[in-house]
Amino acid sequence: MKPALCLALAGLAVLAAPARAADDADPGRALYEARCGGCHALAADRVGPRHAGVLGRKAGSIAGFAYSPALARSQIVWTEESLERWLRDPEALVPGQRMNFRVGDADERRRIVEYLSRNR
Ligand code: HEC
Repeated sequence: MKPALCLALAGLAVLAAPARAADDADPGRALYEARCGGCHALAADRVGPRHAGVLGRKAGSIAGFAYSPALARSQIVWTEESLERWLRDPEALVPGQRMNFRVGDADERRRIVEYLSRNR
């Protein structure tokens, strides 16, 4: 291998290290990024509404986000329990909702809800 390429690769490894360390320290975050990050972020609306402060928030209450009518009028308040039910089967909790995603694994649901509860 050419020395320049070698150095470049070493540099990449160093750059990648802090991100990996953060994920190791907070496995809930890595899981959140992997499962939810395609559609959600903590601080910004994407395909789905932002999540910062979701615990204790009324469902469908982020101003300017185009919720389904079903979720907007659901009267749900997000608690650890309602979030767990939502992630298990959104359509069972709120028929007509538009989040086309569920988390089948109970342990993953618990870790994701725990992560969200730490990021109020
Ligand atoms: C394929 C895209 C997609 C994925 C993946 C996804 N969501 Fe959603 N999520 C949405 C959409 C769209 C809505 C709005 C649903 C509606 O209006 O009926 C939503 C709504 C929500 C809400 C309601 C928020 C509010 O303001 O009332 C919560 C909570 C939520 N998602 C959590 C999660 C979590 C946690 C994950 C990861 C396990 C996840 N979502 C993965 C698209 C997604």
